[in-house]
Amino acid sequence: MTAQATLVDQQLRERLLETFDIEGVARYMARSGAHRIVVMCGAGISTSAGIPDFRSPGTGLYSNLQKYNLPTPEAIFTLDHFRQNPWAFYELARELWPDNFKPTPCHYFIRLLHEKGLLLRCYSQNIDSMERQAGLPAEKLVAVHGNFDGAHVIDTQPEVPVDITELKTAIEKGEEGWQELCKCKGGLVKPTIVFFGESLPPRFCDLYLHDLSACDLLLVLGTSLVVAPFNSLVGKANPSAPRLLINREPTGLCDDLLGGFQFHLEGEAANWRDAFYEGNADDGVLALASALGWSADLETLIASGCQRSH
Ligand code: OAD
Repeated sequence: MTAQATLVDQQLRERLLETFDIEGVARYMARSGAHRIVVMCGAGISTSAGIPDFRSPGTGLYSNLQKYNLPTPEAIFTLDHFRQNPWAFYELARELWPDNFKPTPCHYFIRLLHEKGLLLRCYSQNIDSMERQAGLPAEKLVAVHGNFDGAHVIDTQPEVPVDITELKTAIEKGEEGWQELCKCKGGLVKPTIVFFGESLPPRFCDLYLHDLSACDLLLVLGTSLVVAPFNSLVGKANPSAPRLLINREPTGLCDDLLGGFQFHLEGEAANWRDAFYEGNADDGVLALASALGWSADLETLIASGCQRSH
């Protein structure tokens, strides 16, 4: 970027939030009529459903994989390891199969943004499909790291699809089940989850540049923002869009991430649009819903979801 471009960019940076907190974001939404909201989310929005996140010390998945004897915790999501030792991933997939869980208030808040006609897109790193279970339409979701909606035989070109229920049944039967499926399909079958080193879904590449430059508010919920390229989306949000992080800890700071959050920096020139709510994702969205006067709408959606699932 040239020095002149940087200057112009700085001149465009008017203070967008009266206060850099939930209330400030709610006032911005009411004042500006924000209606192209982009949500970015991660495992922290599903922990209250009983699904562990990855990196929280002690409770995160990567602290609790000793039984698989992995070279590194992330190895469980690599093709190399899966080819050598499919049992570990299948065992974990059985435990984490999305049917075992229910969406959280945070998932319903994302759906509420859609119901109100304000959601441009939700980019989720989560493989649990809870956003869809909460009723978010497919076209509003980009499952950046895939999910359990489909399955395929690995190392085939073109890819050979397999019905996900076949894989589920096989995994439930244990080793005999998945070995039989492997023989029958001519190779190991895995859900359409993106392993490390695999390409992201074409849908992600097709949409993210347009969505982030069009967005008028970015909400980032429950993610450590350490995995690329997902984390780079924070820096791609339109400079005139405020950005709110709701998380138990500050993440994605500009010190670590190009174009990252600046809410921790002093002075108006340094932060003109970033806010941080430190706490649980459900509490954060309940506070935002309350500040917007949407508490009853959110409660109704949560209750309707509960009724549907019984
Ligand atoms: P992480 O486990 O890396 O980060 C979760 C973040 O959410 C942490 O900052 C937690 O402090 C925070 N958190 C946990 N529970 C929370 C709650 N109830 N409310 C608010 N915050 C909470 O998970 P991700 O950022 O999603 O990749 O991880 C990104 C990717 O790394 C995953 O998609 C996965 C993993 O390797 C693949 O599976 C390919």
